[in-house]
Amino acid sequence: MAAKKKSVKDHNGLHRKLVELWNRGQSKFCEVRGSEIHGRGVYATCFIPKETQIIEYVGELVEKEESGRRGISQHAKSLKTGDAAVYIFTLSRKYDIDGNVPWNTARLINHSCAPNCEAWIVGRKIFIHSLTDINAGDELTFDYGFDVDCYEDHPCLCGKEGCVGYIVSRSQWADLEVRLRAKTVKK
Ligand SMILES: C[S@@+](CC[C@H](N)C(=O)[O-])C[C@H]1O[C@@H](n2cnc3c(N)ncnc32)[C@H](O)[C@@H]1O
Ligand SMILES: [Zn+2]
Repeated sequence: MAAKKKSVKDHNGLHRKLVELWNRGQSKFCEVRGSEIHGRGVYATCFIPKETQIIEYVGELVEKEESGRRGISQHAKSLKTGDAAVYIFTLSRKYDIDGNVPWNTARLINHSCAPNCEAWIVGRKIFIHSLTDINAGDELTFDYGFDVDCYEDHPCLCGKEGCVGYIVSRSQWADLEVRLRAKTVKK
């Protein structure tokens, strides 16, 4: 049986949707370059004033149960290949965003202990905002907010003065300090 041919109108509609999807993950304020922190990073293409909405963290809206499964599989892949990562972003009590799609430029933003950006949740969307003025050529970074319980799995290479040595949420730095001190005493 012959397959039904797609009309030119269908084809163009699909093409337009793909372009729209791609564009949502891009921004005039930033671009991807090799990073001194890790792998690829995202860099300012121009001066970005404080409190600017820079780029959307786009991806698939997934329920917690599914995002838990995907997080485990992305983590296992990262341990095996050493270059992948976990791209699940917490959205609400019910949903997360899986940003593991190539048009999601913001997925390549690295962590820093002195970040110049932060993630804002607006409804069911996530946007990266500048916390400070950012100069053209500066790498964009935010606090990944990782839990202190798994600090040893995530050494931090942000290179900032005051780097705590691990990718841990700033809100848990006091706890991290206690744990690191206890480890030194044991030795
Ligand atoms: C979502 S990716 C960020 C993009 C990553 N640089 C890349 O090229 O794929 C997150 C991973 O990047 C690395 N990373 C991000 N920030 C880092 C930092 N401050 N120090 C060390 N590694 C970092 C870690 O391996 C982390 O799991
Ligand atoms: Zn650091």
